[in-house]
Amino acid sequence: MRRIIVLAIATLGAASAGNCAFARSASDQRGEHVFAACGACHSLEADRHMTGPSLADLWNRQAGSLQSFER
Ligand code: HEC
Repeated sequence: MRRIIVLAIATLGAASAGNCAFARSASDQRGEHVFAACGACHSLEADRHMTGPSLADLWNRQAGSLQSFER
């Protein structure tokens, strides 16, 4: 029983020691990391469309309203 508790504490310690690179990086790097998943289909350049529409100036328009993305 005692061994299990010691093991649990050791595991907790390792988890909170901050060995997660995601939590340590600056927030802009984190955004870039997250966007890599979207970059396969989206660019951030105006009117540069890939599988998905360009996400440039995204906040000023309604979804599906880009005239230059014909799909
Ligand atoms: C596999 C390809 C793919 C990936 C990966 C992808 N998207 Fe898309 N996305 C699309 C397609 C295709 C559309 C257009 C859908 C339509 O118009 O019917 C779209 C549309 C959008 C739109 C609406 C844009 C507009 O002007 O209408 C937003 C916002 C968006 N995606 C955000 C994201 C974000 C954020 C991610 C990453 C978390 C992401 N997408 C990942 C393919 C993708």
